[in-house]
Amino acid sequence: MALENVLIEKRGRIAIVTINRPDKLNALNIATRKEILAAFEQLKGDDDVRVVIITGAGEKSFIAGADINEFAGMTAIKQREVMKGGRAFDSVEDFPKPVIAMINGFALGGGCELAMSCDIRVASTKANLGQPEIKLGIIPGGGGTQRLTRLIGEGKAMELILTGDMISADEAKQLGLVNHVFAPEELEAKTMELANRIAELSPVALAMAKASVKNAARMNLREGLDSEVDLFALCFSSEDKEEGVRAFIEKRKAEFKGK
Ligand code: COA
Repeated sequence: MALENVLIEKRGRIAIVTINRPDKLNALNIATRKEILAAFEQLKGDDDVRVVIITGAGEKSFIAGADINEFAGMTAIKQREVMKGGRAFDSVEDFPKPVIAMINGFALGGGCELAMSCDIRVASTKANLGQPEIKLGIIPGGGGTQRLTRLIGEGKAMELILTGDMISADEAKQLGLVNHVFAPEELEAKTMELANRIAELSPVALAMAKASVKNAARMNLREGLDSEVDLFALCFSSEDKEEGVRAFIEKRKAEFKGK
């Protein structure tokens, strides 16, 4: 599939996926959602890529939400099809490699939801985040009511969703919605530094770790603990585990191959 609204750039072991509709503040229309799915499908099978960064084109916006123009005149049945058909955000959450949201500006509605589907969120000081859907007479439909609640707790999620208020990157950090906040001119370098540090680790262990952390929100404690032991044990079937352990004993840097 030819990608028009999504750019993929590879820098060593890192792939940068850029949502590229800057004149619309990178709003997610249906075509762009499909392209996000296609991009992640492509990157999944690319063994050279160990970590993915998602960001928005231009100076101003990460993603300013769903494309509101497509809501006008949209029927309930068609909208449900759009949301259920290609679950772009779920494909990011279930992607077997770490995904970092580099929030360079507005992360609103579907933008905040996509960021929350990522594993780590890093924001520029000039970013603003929020779930403003309520102001349009609708509610978050891409995971906002579920992921935000799990991430920051019901009371704080409820206030953001019921008011539709935007918050600053610093406020988002205080709430635990973003991990780090950097000056705009430092954002890319700091995000790359984080991505490169993770990219040196075992892809097998990273996939297991991601899946196990995700299970915390999907399973009860007993199921989660049982599953964690299984995934932990599964790591012992990898060459990377042997390499990691031997490198420690031999006091050298491990070279993980993802096997
Ligand atoms: N869907 C479609 N178009 C959007 C959009 C969206 N979610 N967000 C911004 N745009 C478009 C604007 O319509 C405008 O297009 P135009 O130049 O053709 O008129 C362009 O992007 C620039 O946006 P503008 O509103 O002029 O920028 P601003 O700096 O004044 O305001 C925002 C920025 C983010 C506060 C404002 O654009 C906004 O509120 N967007 C909608 C956010 C939202 O509700 N998202 C959730 C959707 S469910």
